[in-house]
Amino acid sequence: MKKFLAVALISIGIWTAGCSKISNSGSSYTPSCTGAVKSYKTDVAPLIRTYCSGCHSNFSTYASLSADRNNVSGQIESGNMPRGTSMSSTQKDAIICWISSGAPNN
Ligand code: HEC
Repeated sequence: MKKFLAVALISIGIWTAGCSKISNSGSSYTPSCTGAVKSYKTDVAPLIRTYCSGCHSNFSTYASLSADRNNVSGQIESGNMPRGTSMSSTQKDAIICWISSGAPNN
């Protein structure tokens, strides 16, 4: 019984350690949206090109990015994205606040 418990505990340990590896690498982020509505063309698209498109070529058009907008802001706010690089709070705000103002094609 003791042996079984030890094996079970070790397995749970390995399992949870594995999970923490694939979960958030960054820390969660709370956006601050003030001022004028952000522009897709001048604010958002260049950031997506620089920080996301290397891995997500599907986000390179307005249609695909706006279709996935809830996921996009959720992933940035949770700190899960971007990966392998980081954005300043101003850059995160530009994308998240553009989405929260309805992701206009402006
Ligand atoms: C180095 C590669 C890499 C970069 C850069 C990157 N991602 Fe991701 N992204 C991934 C991988 C891999 C997944 C698969 C799911 C996971 O592991 O979380 C993912 C998943 C996602 C998802 C959830 C799935 C989906 O398609 O809806 C969203 C949304 C997302 N990323 C948005 C972004 C945004 C926005 C940026 C830029 C700010 C970004 N990612 C930058 C690799 C990357």
